[in-house]
Amino acid sequence: MPPHQRTFDLVIAANRLPVDRVVDADGEVSWRRSPGGLVTAMHAVMSGRPGAWVGWSGDAGAAPEPFEIEGMLLHPVELSEEEVESFYEGFSNDTLWPIYHDVIVPATFHRLWWNAYIAVNERFAEAVCRLAARGATVWVHDYQLQLVPAMVRRRRPDVRIGWFDHIPFPPVELFAQLPWRREILVGMLAADFLGFQRTADARNFLQACRRLGGFQARGDIVTVPGGPGEPAWHAQVGAVPISVDSHRLAELAGRPESVARAAEIRESIGNPRVMLLGVDRLDYTKGIRHRLKAYEELLAEGRIEPPDVTFVQVATPSRERLEAYRSLRDVIEMTVGRINGEYSSLGAPAVNYLHHAYDRDEMTGLFLAADVMVVTPLRDGMNLVAKEYVASRTDLSGALVLSEFTGAYHELRRAFVTNPHDIEGLKDTMMRAIETAPSAKRRAMRAMHRQVMASDVQRWANRFLTALDAAANARREAG
Ligand code: ADP
Ligand code: F6P
Repeated sequence: MPPHQRTFDLVIAANRLPVDRVVDADGEVSWRRSPGGLVTAMHAVMSGRPGAWVGWSGDAGAAPEPFEIEGMLLHPVELSEEEVESFYEGFSNDTLWPIYHDVIVPATFHRLWWNAYIAVNERFAEAVCRLAARGATVWVHDYQLQLVPAMVRRRRPDVRIGWFDHIPFPPVELFAQLPWRREILVGMLAADFLGFQRTADARNFLQACRRLGGFQARGDIVTVPGGPGEPAWHAQVGAVPISVDSHRLAELAGRPESVARAAEIRESIGNPRVMLLGVDRLDYTKGIRHRLKAYEELLAEGRIEPPDVTFVQVATPSRERLEAYRSLRDVIEMTVGRINGEYSSLGAPAVNYLHHAYDRDEMTGLFLAADVMVVTPLRDGMNLVAKEYVASRTDLSGALVLSEFTGAYHELRRAFVTNPHDIEGLKDTMMRAIETAPSAKRRAMRAMHRQVMASDVQRWANRFLTALDAAANARREAG
């Protein structure tokens, strides 16, 4: 059967494909891993599993033809230049992203952006309906596609629909700011099962359904009245925290070449006694400015000094045409320059700032080289980097400084936990992570390593799909 007519029992819909299309100077087209935790997790789940993945190729204009990688059919969805601005940069990342992250920066509302959000969600829904076999499982991901469940349900009452929120779901007082809040709730509630990272996120969603949708929400089931002559609809809600491919990461960390690369990295930055590491998309939710401020004050107070202690900050480029991201980059790079000007010596920079994306091998080398992993988001749905670091520390050495405003905090409580808004507290926590006896750090890392190895990304996917099946079966039995 020609690729464009094949149908699948499992169809994924996510804003991004697992790969971005890259066209280099002489027009050569290639594909590279796309950014973010969603892709990291779902690539591990889908690799080798027959299914289709509907997503955007990462650049504007005509979408490439569907193609296969690792047993998956990738079905690119087109976004025009205008839709990249109004749907992706606009509604997704300048309206929803700030609202869902404690309005760390103000949200922007444009009716034009909302219309683009509807149009692009429709396009995703159409592709999903074409690819879904009868009775298929449709797994919709994240804040960019919250209308897709209802749009698919209208066309395909036969399929099972799950939706997972990779980012926080905001308190009802913030969600209420959205002029289109009810339309978004209705778009989501056509799913059989809605998964969130934390119980707090699920609770926020249930409260929004009650207070802003006027729907009955008893326990973890939301009841939406049916149309005239139609039965009511029941959507199941639950917390299913995402994770990482921890067995693969541990295996990578155990390779001699990974250990050698870690030694090279430490050598290249002046062989510090203590290497601190930050790894993030360059995003205002990650608290990069807060951790650099704490580090700079520790240097100024003489509590640490390079090359004895040094900081490596990897900041992956992200959403660079958005003003909030452009000004964040300026602030971070000015801060790095000031710190290095004041506290570096030749061959021993106080901050090694790397504005690049790296492959998984290099990431493993960085995780092995780091004595202290510094993860200080102001708000983060989960933060897979924290779990990747812990999975990589197979010898149980190392220390994790972790913000309490991450989903990961709820599973990694033996970390050196911090409130990144409290700079004095963050400084003391960083010092405790540096100075605590190795035996005590080892006990904490052992507990966290066990948790991450037991609760990996495959277990997360199985838990989600099992909950989705149970919800869909219950709906059918309820008639
Ligand atoms: P988010 O989804 O907000 O980007 P997460 O921490 O959940 O944050 O996921 C980030 C993912 O991107 C992780 O898998 C991490 O290893 C990866 N990553 C982050 N920075 C880089 C980088 N510079 N190069 C390659 N991968 C990166
Ligand atoms: O994992 C959370 C997330 O927001 C994904 O939805 C997104 O794909 C990823 O981070 C990276 O963001 P972007 O797709 O805007 O580059």
